[in-house]
Amino acid sequence: MQQFLTKTVREIALEAPKTTRVFEEYKIDYCCHGDTPFRDACQRIGADPDVVMHKIDDLLEADELNESVRHTERSLTDLVDHLLSTHHVYTKNEIENLTPLMAKVASRHGEHYPYLLELKSKFQQVCDDLGPHMMKEEMVLFPYIVELERNHALRISGRGPAFGTVSNPVRMMQIEHEEVGELLATMRELTNDYSLPDGACPSFTALYHRLGDFERDLHEHIHLENNLLFPRAIQLEEKVLSAALL
Ligand SMILES: [Fe+2]
Ligand SMILES: [Fe+2]
Repeated sequence: MQQFLTKTVREIALEAPKTTRVFEEYKIDYCCHGDTPFRDACQRIGADPDVVMHKIDDLLEADELNESVRHTERSLTDLVDHLLSTHHVYTKNEIENLTPLMAKVASRHGEHYPYLLELKSKFQQVCDDLGPHMMKEEMVLFPYIVELERNHALRISGRGPAFGTVSNPVRMMQIEHEEVGELLATMRELTNDYSLPDGACPSFTALYHRLGDFERDLHEHIHLENNLLFPRAIQLEEKVLSAALL
């Protein structure tokens, strides 16, 4: 996979989705800052790009028989369905399940480990941000993208959206992604990479594992929106608009 050495992190994650596991391990940001060249992203965190590339090679070889979903081959409508039925459903369920677990662990162990109270507050901010964020995607942006693709297929010019062009809500969503990304990074710092103290109880252990999974899923979720769905929707809208002008 030497050809990856000259690509951006975003391109690699799209071409071979399994590579995101290595990016997570090295804390290479492939969702909000995916346009960084692979070499620069490695150097930025003090890692040797060749070593990281070896890791990727090993993972892809071991995984050769597993079919990885080629999101780049999906239609926009299919991609929206995928985001809604997997990432949005998972995120909402986990917000509901993790909120009481977080409260329980913070109230039982917050005195000994005061950072748990800060963790709880950051997690609450993530939940408060994500609720309205996903609602805007579900009610406004995603339906528009699906309609855009339908209009394009049927060669219908359609009516312009109330928000001007798709770049406007996209920009807003990207800013919100960035804010959530920063909160998740702070949560990871507060917990020293979700390292459990000696003798942590089962609830404490479950909380850290699930917060780690929640973070990984959000990274993939944001990556698919920022790096695939949004640029393709902008491109398609330009095509539809220029065809309508002819
Ligand atoms: Fe989303
Ligand atoms: Fe989003």
